[in-house]
Amino acid sequence: MTAEYRVAILVVSTSVYQGTTADRAVEHLVGFLRTAGRATWRVIATDVVADDVGQIQRAVTRWTQPAAPRDLHNPDNYFQASADPTIDLLLTSGGTGLSPDDVTPEAVEPLLTRICPGFTAAMLTHSLGITPLATLSRPVCGVRCRTLVLTLPGKPKAAVENLEAVLPSLPHALDLIR
Ligand code: MTE
Repeated sequence: MTAEYRVAILVVSTSVYQGTTADRAVEHLVGFLRTAGRATWRVIATDVVADDVGQIQRAVTRWTQPAAPRDLHNPDNYFQASADPTIDLLLTSGGTGLSPDDVTPEAVEPLLTRICPGFTAAMLTHSLGITPLATLSRPVCGVRCRTLVLTLPGKPKAAVENLEAVLPSLPHALDLIR
């Protein structure tokens, strides 16, 4: 039987949040995961927030809250079960770039109890083979409670290319933090 993993997607974009542009990243990521193989990927939650540290952090913590109030930066508590233990993989899309509005890495990184630079390296290496513009993304990847968090770029094509880069190692990684 193929393993099943639960995924949440957080779109980070002020214009999508305000309704002035339409998001396409969720649809592309869901489409990619449907055909991705290796496992069954169930997208069980999606949300949209503005490029705002507070809004991003509230969404990420809501999906990765420890079961009981804990100092997640104490190593004894690194792998606390989440209050909502249903999300194995949290993908953010957008806000990783260089403009002053792009604050996703700054919002996400302090919430992570373990930084996983291998995922970041895989995303950037793969992406740089596709476009030199990959240099403009500043992804951070890591674990919070029992959820792996990956910050993808906002453009649908770029988001899928970055996810594609880490897909082969995802099931093993997610099994280790479950
Ligand atoms: N990575 C891949 N694989 N493909 C792309 O087209 N676009 C880049 C970069 N990473 C791109 C990519 C561009 S143009 C930008 S501005 C940054 O991602 C940041 O995107 P974001 O601010 O929407 O997160």
